[in-house]
Amino acid sequence: MQVSSDIVLGPRVRLRHPVVAAPMAGVTTPELAAAVTEAGGLGVLAFATIEVEKMRDEMARARQISPGPIGVNFFANAAPEPDVGRERGAAAAIAPLYRELGLDSLPTPVRPGPGFDEGRFELLLELDPDLVSFHFGLPSSEVVERLAAKGTTVATTATNISEARAAESAGADVVIAQGAEAGGHRGTLDPESEPIGTLALVPQVADAVSVPVLAAGGIGDGRGLAAALSLGAAAAQIGTAFIPCSESAADDVYRRAVLSTAGEDTTMTSSFSGRPARGRSNRLTSVLEGAEVAPFPVQRQLSGPLAKGGLEYRALWMGQAGSLARAEPAAAIVERIVCQAQGVARGVADRWRES
Ligand SMILES: Cc1cc2nc3c(=O)[nH]c(=O)nc-3n(C[C@H](O)[C@H](O)[C@H](O)COP(=O)(O)O)c2cc1C
Repeated sequence: MQVSSDIVLGPRVRLRHPVVAAPMAGVTTPELAAAVTEAGGLGVLAFATIEVEKMRDEMARARQISPGPIGVNFFANAAPEPDVGRERGAAAAIAPLYRELGLDSLPTPVRPGPGFDEGRFELLLELDPDLVSFHFGLPSSEVVERLAAKGTTVATTATNISEARAAESAGADVVIAQGAEAGGHRGTLDPESEPIGTLALVPQVADAVSVPVLAAGGIGDGRGLAAALSLGAAAAQIGTAFIPCSESAADDVYRRAVLSTAGEDTTMTSSFSGRPARGRSNRLTSVLEGAEVAPFPVQRQLSGPLAKGGLEYRALWMGQAGSLARAEPAAAIVERIVCQAQGVARGVADRWRES
């Protein structure tokens, strides 16, 4: 069964089901993205942290599995400004954890170049995905215009109303309204801004913009999907619920952690990467709470080696609804969530009729 008409997110993106599998760096595989597209939703490849050759390979693998629409995702943040003072402060704060684990001295941070550069843009034009989503804002208007000219849907994340309005003005065809419950990085332009929950955010964003809105954050089953659609979203962008799926790249420790972590055992922390992101609380997040961090993503180079210490020192990104996840194939997850949402919506309509 499907909703009465296709969900249209652009000239090349028509979906049978209102489910977008969130791009998740380190977790999404071409098999996961393609399985969700084949099931009637939309799969989005996570290109933010991988090399150009891998992008080519991932796109080819996804296209082999599914002829349907496939999206790709990038981070659009500017290259970090040199800030030796902050890097020193961050290194001093994290050093005791290196000693605790008996690890060698801290690595000297190397400032990475911009995430979304000319080379990546050229490859993007060549790979020709059906949708491109950006986290941390949109790239230049030239990039947006050239993608629009190809009929590629351009989406970007907003975590409040003003970011949503700015995204629409900058040419976004779709706004991803990401609530505070979401796993992974907050796609905000202002890391200091107050996070807003999905329930409050989505209807206000839907009122503020005229383009389709994807609701993201804490949507783990059909009840969440039905709620997102009721709030005015065209579809839900779901991340955490797919982490334990058969096609995900997550290892067993990570999968088990998602299935067993209660919402209150997650936290929004900048300690791993230098930008706020939600993941499982652990010793690292509690020791570094409030401590200085190096600019994003330089902090990742300082925290990364500590992952050798296991669960208590590793970044395990997940949202507040992790315990709603099920270890199933991605297509089964889409079917289950959509069927449950239909039942929930019917149940609510029946209750109104009865009263
Ligand atoms: C493990 C993980 C990795 C993520 N990586 C990305 C990413 O690379 N790009 C991006 O735009 N969003 C990323 N996100 C955020 C998702 O796009 C989405 O906002 C979030 O998963 C929705 O909330 P939920 O996890 O509660 O479903 C990530 C989320 C998780 C859980």
